Amino acid sequence: MARLGARLLVRDLTQLATPAAGPVPRRGVALAAVEVIDDAFVLCVGEHIELVGRMRDLPAIDGDVEELDGRGLCAVPGLVDCHMHPAWGGDRVDEFSLRAAGGSYEELHASGGGILSTVRATRALGAEALHARVARHAGWLLAHGTTTWEGKSGYGLDRETELESLRAVRDAGGSPTWLGAHSVPPEHDDADAYLDFALSEVLPEAARLAVAADVFLERGAFDATQARRYLEACRDAGLALRLHGDQFTESGAIPLAVDLGARSVDHLEATGDAGVRALAASDVVGVLLPASALFLDRPMPPGRALADAGAPIALATDFNPGSAFTTSLPLVCSLACTQLHLSPEEALSAVTVNAAHVLELAGDRGRIAPGLRADLTLLDAPDWRYLAYHLAGDVVAAVVRGGSLVVRR
Ligand code: NIG
Ligand code: FE
Repeated sequence: MARLGARLLVRDLTQLATPAAGPVPRRGVALAAVEVIDDAFVLCVGEHIELVGRMRDLPAIDGDVEELDGRGLCAVPGLVDCHMHPAWGGDRVDEFSLRAAGGSYEELHASGGGILSTVRATRALGAEALHARVARHAGWLLAHGTTTWEGKSGYGLDRETELESLRAVRDAGGSPTWLGAHSVPPEHDDADAYLDFALSEVLPEAARLAVAADVFLERGAFDATQARRYLEACRDAGLALRLHGDQFTESGAIPLAVDLGARSVDHLEATGDAGVRALAASDVVGVLLPASALFLDRPMPPGRALADAGAPIALATDFNPGSAFTTSLPLVCSLACTQLHLSPEEALSAVTVNAAHVLELAGDRGRIAPGLRADLTLLDAPDWRYLAYHLAGDVVAAVVRGGSLVVRR
C-alpha cells in the first residue's frame, strides 16, 4: 500500500488508454469509447490518481516525488478479472490428457471426475495450504496485469472448506463469491437435499464473508427451480447474484437472471438469439469466458451479437483447474478480438470498467482518471492495442496497484 500522501509520477508514457467517462455498465457504442493520450503522464498521490495528461501539460511538482520512466510503455487501467475460481487443491492434468485423447468434460464430470475430483483434493488440503494456494494464484494474476479480482468458493461444498475458501480469497485481496451451488457432493442424496444443508448450515456465515453468490445452472448440476431457490435465499441474506449459465445447454439461466436482477450471467456459449435479445433488454451483464470455450474446445459465446444488440458485456478468465487453466486477461483479450470479433476498444472496456461494475467497484476503479484508485497496467508495447494483439506475449512490463509499483519486469 502506498504511504499516505506519497507521490508516484509515471512519466513519458508512449500512450495511455482508458475507457471514457460515462454510465456503467458500458453497452452499444459506449463499449468502444476509449480515450487515448499520446506522450502521457499519470500522477498518483497515496492510493489514488491525482492528475492525468500529456507530458507538455505536466505542472511543476515541488517536494518528494518518485518517478517511473514510462518510455516505451503504454498504460491501461489495472485489469479486473470478474470471474475466477482460485481456491482449489490438486490439479486436473490427468483429465487434461484424457480430454486431449478425446474424453468429454461432461462425461468426466458425470463419472465423478471433473469438479468432484477437485472437491476431494481441496477438502484434503487444510486451511494453511488452501490460503497458500490462493495467494500463489493471486501472484500469477498480478503478473498478468490483474489488480482486482473475484474469487469463488465451490470446491469445498462442505461448511468448513467453503468458508475457508472465502476467507482465503478475502485474505489474498480478492472479492469473495460463495459458489455454494457448484455441484452436488457425494454425501448428499440429491441437489435438493444438498441445498437444504447449504442454505441452513453454510449461508449464514457465507453471507458475512462473501459479496456475491453464484450457482452452476446446467444439466448434471442444478436446474432452474433449484437455482432460483438458492439465489433467492442468498439475495435475502444480502448477497449480489451471479449465475453460471448456458455453458452447454440453454436451461433458463438468462430469464432467471433477468427476473432476479442478477449482476451477471456468465459463460453463454450455448445462448441463442432470444437470449441475446433478453440480455440486451436488461441490465444483467453477460460475462464471456472465451479461454474456457477454447480450453474445452467448445463453441465460442456470441460476443459480437451481444455487443451489436446493445447488451452489457464483460470478459474474464474463468481461471480454474478443469475448464480454464489460465490467469491471463491479455490472452482473453486476444481471444475476444480473434474469436468473438470484438474490437480492442470493446475488449478493454470489458476487462476494466464493465468487469469492475460486475463486482460493484466501478465507482472506484476500471478507468484512469483523477479520484480513482491508482491501479495501472503498463504494457511493453508501442501501441496499447498490443494488450490483445500480442498473442500470449510477455506484454505486461509493470503494474502499479494502489499507487505502489508492485511488478516490474
Ligand atoms: O466455470 N462450469 C462450472 N464451473 C467451472 C468449471 C469448474 C471445473 O471444471 O472445475 C467453469 O467452467
Ligand atoms: Fe466459472
